[in-house]
Amino acid sequence: TEPLRLGIAGLGTVGAGVVRIVQTHAAMLEARGGRPVTISAVCARSRNRDRGVDLSGYDWEDDPVALARREDVDVLIELMGGEDGPAKACVEAALETGKHVVTANKAMLAHHGQAMAEQAEAAGRALKFEAAVAGGIPIVKALGEGLAANGIERLMGVMNGTCNYILTEMEATEAPYETVLEDAQRLGYAEADPTFDVGGIDAAHKLALLAAIAYGTRVDFPGVQTEGIDRISLTDIHQARDMGFRIKLLGVAKMTPLGLEQRMTPCLVPAGSSIGLLAGVTNAVVVEGDFVGQTVFQGPGAGQGPTASAVMADVLDISRGQVGTTFGVPATRLAAAPRASDAGA
Ligand code: NDP
Ligand code: HSE
Repeated sequence: TEPLRLGIAGLGTVGAGVVRIVQTHAAMLEARGGRPVTISAVCARSRNRDRGVDLSGYDWEDDPVALARREDVDVLIELMGGEDGPAKACVEAALETGKHVVTANKAMLAHHGQAMAEQAEAAGRALKFEAAVAGGIPIVKALGEGLAANGIERLMGVMNGTCNYILTEMEATEAPYETVLEDAQRLGYAEADPTFDVGGIDAAHKLALLAAIAYGTRVDFPGVQTEGIDRISLTDIHQARDMGFRIKLLGVAKMTPLGLEQRMTPCLVPAGSSIGLLAGVTNAVVVEGDFVGQTVFQGPGAGQGPTASAVMADVLDISRGQVGTTFGVPATRLAAAPRASDAGA
């Protein structure tokens, strides 16, 4: 059987994790996907950095666009980050040259997902992003496939591991905000620019992507009312605890008679509730469907293993020939929804 050949752009926390899974589970991936999964070439900025994985069997490219255009690459895996720049350039080059694309880059998709999905679908190629939302939790597939027969009444959850880690560690250890943020960076949870995490922007990117799948609407990231945790102090956390609450960065999306409501803001939740009990890097997404009722998806929202696991689930979909659509319906049929906030909600 012909192998599915990967080109990996970005060998940081997530990219090294993807290499690790391909090397660890080669036989299992072949059995589950129906064909071998191989890596043709990889790309990062520094050729000499030790990444804790053996890269000696793969070609090296300095330029992600050249990687994307290689004839021996069937799937470009974009794991560099950044909404524009090399990430966008190499995804566009891959789709132009008939490759499938898997990415964990929610910032890029929140801004360019509509155009990229249209480009991929016009070419009959996959553009998949399970890893971009809630790390290891398979919420993109759950919403787009498993729950696809439901009208979604509400979607809510904790979608940024770094923020949840900071809030729970500050409460548990009394460590200052800066120290705990440094820990989250060291553990590989934070974005290259952590203001995206603590400013709520990263979680808002994710909410906008999930809302598009849930409501069949165009991704509307600017429509998310966003506030981060960067102004939450230890005193705020103690006061919440003394009243029996915890502070969580909580996202909510729902379709109202006035339009789509999307909010990502710090909220007080009862300390003993399922959201209140989420600790560390854990994320949770609650989906309420008109036929299924309430479903809850919980697990590690960031980090090498969980995120690489989600990337490889997308690779397996492609291996099985499941190209599908990026947002669950053809991109040209995604509707522009009015914003509830514009109508004063
Ligand atoms: P890292 O910063 O750890 O890795 C980024 C990689 O991209 C590095 O290997 C870097 O090279 C490479 N890179 C950056 N710019 C270029 C360039 N111009 N040309 C070639 N290579 C380049 O990021 P992460 O692995 O943490 O994140 C990758 C993506 O995954 C991001 O979109 C992020 O938002 C997303 N994501 C991350 C999660 C996590 O837990 N970390 C979870 C879910 C999604 P070098 O190593 O040489 O510097
Ligand atoms: N920085 C992100 C987080 C990575 O902490 O949730 C996972 O998307």
